[in-house]
Amino acid sequence: MTRIISPKQVRDAAEIIRKGGVVAFPTETVYGLGASALNPDAAKKIFKAKGRPSDNPLIVHIAGREQLKKVARIPKNKLAIVNKLIRKFWPGPLTLILPRKEIVPLEVTGGLGTVAVRMPKSRIALRLIRMAGVPIAAPSANISGKPSGTCFEHVYDDFNGKIDGIIKSRPCKIGVESTVLDLTSNVPFILRPGGVTYEQLRKVLPGIKIYTHKRKVKVVKSPGMKYKHYSPKAKVLLFEDGEMRRIAEYKKRLERKGKRVVVISPKNSVAFSRKLFAMFRECDKKKIEYILMPAIEEKGIGLAIMNRIRKAASRILR
Ligand code: TXA
Ligand code: MG
Repeated sequence: MTRIISPKQVRDAAEIIRKGGVVAFPTETVYGLGASALNPDAAKKIFKAKGRPSDNPLIVHIAGREQLKKVARIPKNKLAIVNKLIRKFWPGPLTLILPRKEIVPLEVTGGLGTVAVRMPKSRIALRLIRMAGVPIAAPSANISGKPSGTCFEHVYDDFNGKIDGIIKSRPCKIGVESTVLDLTSNVPFILRPGGVTYEQLRKVLPGIKIYTHKRKVKVVKSPGMKYKHYSPKAKVLLFEDGEMRRIAEYKKRLERKGKRVVVISPKNSVAFSRKLFAMFRECDKKKIEYILMPAIEEKGIGLAIMNRIRKAASRILR
């Protein structure tokens, strides 16, 4: 049975996590599917519930600086950078990849010698971590491959009956996941654009690099990059030139064939990122077969939005 837990009952959720159970909880980005980050059996339950490949590591969520030292090693030459980033962006949607400490089981890190760490901003999430007394390992709360859960209903649809509890709160504020920043290579690398923008990071780290769809990735640094993601059942067609007339013609052609089609025009704003995954799930409910989307400029939060759309897309029309 999956217990629906109110924000007032966070203590109960913490108790479940302490005992090795799995509880979904809200963060400012998306809902997370949480379990103790120090318990390998609990971590395995997360992978099972999500249907996630075991080599795709989880983010370890912490509530304070002292927990960072517990789970990650900060190389001396990175200390200044880490301090700067934390001061500026934590708590918030920035995940740092650092060398892992042994206390974090390999089940959590997908066998890697590094660990992903983030201090979320959501007060419920922070309270949950503090009350549990352990860092919490959590991927986004969605069945593997589906759009991330950004509302209680999404999480309930995917996991009712499969996990111990869900904290029922309001929809997540940002709606796309955290920015994943690798600090283990010589140059800091953004592995996944997200809630903290490239422009914001560049101010703090002028030399920062980013993997983009244009760059051929030789080594897959972030295991999550090689899997299909965020996909509704409908086919997402991305129109690279953003030409609305072309999209309207394409829509007509599909409708003549009897297809159920919608056009979703992304906006470069948090108001849009907040709704993106919910719109994908809404299309599934309405049995939409095609979602046509024009590309937008990959600046600010638009970079994360376009990253998710590209990964969800079954075709990109140039
Ligand atoms: O906003 C978020 O980040 C949400 C909330 C719940 O915090 N979490 C989230 O987790 O999006 P998930 O598991 O869906 O995505 C984590 C990404 C994956 O692409 C994974 O491969 C990558 O981070 N990752 C985790 N640990 C890593 C590591 N040690 N090295 C490289 N990439 C890592
Ligand atoms: Mg995910």
